[in-house]
Amino acid sequence: MRKKITIIGAGNVGASTAQLIAKEGIADVVLFDIAEGIPQGKALDIAEACPLWGSAACIKGTNSYSDTKNSDIVVITAGFPRKPNMSRDDLLHANAGVVKAASAAIAKTSPKAIIIVVTNPMDAMAQLAWKTTGFSDKRVMGMGGILDAARFRTFLAWELNVSPEDIETMLLGGHGDQMVPMPRFTTVKGIPVSELMKKKTINALIQRTRSGGAEIVSLLKSGSAYYAPAAATFQMIKSILHDEKRLLPSAAYLNGEYGVKDLYVGVPVVLGKEGVEEIVEIKLTREEKAMFRESCAAVRKLVKKLAI
Ligand code: NAI
Ligand code: 2OP
Repeated sequence: MRKKITIIGAGNVGASTAQLIAKEGIADVVLFDIAEGIPQGKALDIAEACPLWGSAACIKGTNSYSDTKNSDIVVITAGFPRKPNMSRDDLLHANAGVVKAASAAIAKTSPKAIIIVVTNPMDAMAQLAWKTTGFSDKRVMGMGGILDAARFRTFLAWELNVSPEDIETMLLGGHGDQMVPMPRFTTVKGIPVSELMKKKTINALIQRTRSGGAEIVSLLKSGSAYYAPAAATFQMIKSILHDEKRLLPSAAYLNGEYGVKDLYVGVPVVLGKEGVEEIVEIKLTREEKAMFRESCAAVRKLVKKLAI
């Protein structure tokens, strides 16, 4: 039997993620939204593309949580995107209500699901989803690090005129302005990037990565990025569904790892059929530790504001 994936929020990120799943035919998809007609219309459009993609996936749009029953994976993209001059954190209170309602409904209808939270501010929203569902922390995670890493890889590839596929990198911390890109763990087909590029150029690309989301918001004027966010979410879904055990940066619950207690924040994890199967701890330099601590403090401030 094909697995069932529910996407909560049929907006830009949600519908794009549904499209990728349906195109690859790796699972059936339920697209849920509170807006009437939107999930139904987008699901119908995607279903009509399936014959052209050679995909037998079933896709259903709905406004009813009963259709999401017994999903294997649920992706939460519901909520509001930012506008120009807004930070991800400005979305905190508006999106907390949405994520809380969605999480409570998922806990009832899909008690065995693995949840991937995308809604911003993502790390705090992942913590909220985990608390609300009461699920094991292994089954609740957040998408952000893969997207930030993909942005860094893109900028490095352009600078070096090589394929972005050959660039590997790791990134820690919250999916916010204080994210911690890791040039020390950045390689071009195994060659440390520091061998190929001046520190000043690397730092400029790190800065562009940090404001990568805002760069797109200011170009789009309304709404935020969704093609790369959907691709990043899809990579997590695939690793879980196919038990690939990819080592990817994701927001995961830290309870002592990296010296951090009771907080969702981005770290390298192994993603497989159980969800977050391992948190990979790497030894950080003093400078990296300081940046990571600062990033964790920014996430903790948001979590405190939510009083969860
Ligand atoms: P969008 O505005 O296109 O879609 C959001 C959808 O959520 C809308 O269709 C809306 O009707 C729906 N919605 C609102 N309240 C709902 C509820 N209670 N239940 C179900 N659906 C509800 O926004 P977009 O671009 O898809 O972004 C969604 C969220 O994802 C935003 O918070 C955005 O900041 C975040 N995001 C996070 C990224 C990350 O890396 N973690 C990357 C890109 C976006
Ligand atoms: C991004 O980084 C808005 O979090 C979203 O594009």
